[in-house]
Amino acid sequence: MIAARKDRSTVPATPAPEDRRSPFIRLADLLAGIEPGRQPLSAAVGEPQHAMPAFVGPVLADALPGFGRYPRAEGTPTFRAAAARWLAQRYDLARPIDAEREVLALNGSREGLFSAAIVARRLTPGKGAKGRPAMLLPNPFYAAYAAGAEAAGCEAVVVPTSRDSGWLPDLDALDKDLLERTVALYIASPANPQGSIASADYLGRALELARRHGAFLFSDECYSEIYLGAEKPAGILEVAGADFSRAVAFNSLSKRSSLPGLRCGFCAGDPAFLKDFLAFRWVAAPQVPEPLQAVAVAALEDEAHVTASRDLYRAKFDLADRMLEGRLGYERPGGGFFLWLDVSHLATDSLSGGEAAAVKLWREQGLRTVPGGYLARRDLTGANPAANFLRVALVQDLPTCEEVLTRLVAALT
Ligand SMILES: Cc1ncc(COP(=O)(O)O)c(C=O)c1O
Repeated sequence: MIAARKDRSTVPATPAPEDRRSPFIRLADLLAGIEPGRQPLSAAVGEPQHAMPAFVGPVLADALPGFGRYPRAEGTPTFRAAAARWLAQRYDLARPIDAEREVLALNGSREGLFSAAIVARRLTPGKGAKGRPAMLLPNPFYAAYAAGAEAAGCEAVVVPTSRDSGWLPDLDALDKDLLERTVALYIASPANPQGSIASADYLGRALELARRHGAFLFSDECYSEIYLGAEKPAGILEVAGADFSRAVAFNSLSKRSSLPGLRCGFCAGDPAFLKDFLAFRWVAAPQVPEPLQAVAVAALEDEAHVTASRDLYRAKFDLADRMLEGRLGYERPGGGFFLWLDVSHLATDSLSGGEAAAVKLWREQGLRTVPGGYLARRDLTGANPAANFLRVALVQDLPTCEEVLTRLVAALT
């Protein structure tokens, strides 16, 4: 509820320089010179290690001639049609998606989430009149949102999330003056790192808020297929109804199909925004090689590997339920593949709980994890709300994840 207080509605305009570095660079610095106590094992990077679908190789081989052409910025018609079809089959859409006007290929969702900020700012020139243009990010957040906001010349305003708010920003608490200068809101569902899932009602309210204030809603849905309960997470395009204005969904094959190295994703939604985004992309963005788009089409047309992968994530969280129940504030997340653990008991004068835990795990167990504070910024209170949390990625096979959990329990409980 802090954000409701007018005088405290923003973080300092100039965050500390270390806030802008990649969490992994900061982690490397933290652990530099410390010998791992055992054979190193990484649970740091959110890089799915599940078997990639068997058809990847043959499809790629067939598509090789495509490496002899510059790919078009918007993606191949086949890829865009496959993305539109997948969205229509996955979500309860009010109408079909127009693949030509409402879908663009991305070189992974990250670069799209970053560069969309620049275009959003260009499309909202009036926002400069009411103070510094702002972009709202959940805290913690995926680093590309803040990088994009700041590249666009906006203030990256972190909005608190907490266990009590279901780890989602409290939309009702947002200050009106802040909203008037807001260019875009970023929402992630399921969220990295907490795995929280925004309901359709929440997404609808967020979109309504964005529209009312002439802002865009960028909905990061790259974990959409990794849900751990029975219900599929809602998507922004299904709550938007027939009118996609101001709503843009981002997704990719990285998490859904365990193809993080493919670098292929897409955004879909507001055709007016995508028109300008495409114009920008023709001069400024990385294209996706055509053979990789061919692989992505095959992946989008197959759900069997997605179901198998989801079942494997569920099995890992079943194991985590057994091994971590009642420990380290563990709660089974709604989606995603991260443990988000409370390690406040390890905080020292010089290290946050997350840093102390990451050092201890590396020194005693050779296990690499990410201090939560590296995924967030100091908020309105001046404190980093994630400083005493630890993020652990369960991305390998089941026996390896069991080993991750065993080492965690040995060092931290
Ligand atoms: C929340 C979130 N959004 C976006 C991405 C970007 O993924 P990609 O660029 O591989 O689609 C990631 C990757 O870790 C992520 O965790």
